Amino acid sequence: MRKPIIAGNWKMNNTASEGVALVNAIAPLVKEANCDVVVCVPAIDIPAVSEALKGTNIDLGAENVHFAEKGAYTGEISATMLLEYGVKYVIIGHSERRQYFGETDETVNKRTLTALKAGLTPIVCIGESLEEREGGKTEEVLATQIHEGLKDIEDITKIVIAYEPVWAIGTGKTATAEQANETIAFIRKTVGEMFCSKCAEKLRIQYGGSMNAGNCKELMAMPEIDGGLIGGASLKAPDFATIVNFDK
Ligand code: PGA
Repeated sequence: MRKPIIAGNWKMNNTASEGVALVNAIAPLVKEANCDVVVCVPAIDIPAVSEALKGTNIDLGAENVHFAEKGAYTGEISATMLLEYGVKYVIIGHSERRQYFGETDETVNKRTLTALKAGLTPIVCIGESLEEREGGKTEEVLATQIHEGLKDIEDITKIVIAYEPVWAIGTGKTATAEQANETIAFIRKTVGEMFCSKCAEKLRIQYGGSMNAGNCKELMAMPEIDGGLIGGASLKAPDFATIVNFDK
């Protein structure tokens, strides 16, 4: 019922020309994909990658968007600017932005509402730290991120949530498939209580955190996991393609 979505998050990797070479390598490998395929790329790569993606089944995503429509925000990028290049998705609230760039649930909420208003699909990232998981606080932390970060959204089915346990990002430490499935079920239940349970059933929730060519099948086999947000493994065409083709 929910179409899986596999999205690459390049982070601060790949110049524009490297990005073009990478999507040129990925495109032929994923053309039979049964899921939605997205690459979220550094802002400066967007024009060139957008051009390279023409005629492919890969959609373009950004890694952030500002919450104002326009104005005096030196260094920032608006939804309108992204749309001009055919950007469809935008990652919001990635843990690295929360950790290093002062992102809070409040700014996540503002960015998400702005992105939705502009017609972009936000990929909203939530997740607990190792300390929080070990302290038994996972559900409490996620519930707060959901209640604060997603408030006032009119149609919750228009977003994608990425559940990314912070301790699994870039560490090679993946949540077990059962752990990820259980936590995503909790996220879906919480969203259902906040909005409506039917909407929560339609909402796509990805897992992210050291998902790779080796563990993708097991993770994607879980009933609650609707896709992946892939960092490291999205930088290598064969690995990313293996994840996209998890069902083959
Ligand atoms: P990783 O990153 O796959 O390198 O762990 C995932 C992410 O940060 O989105």
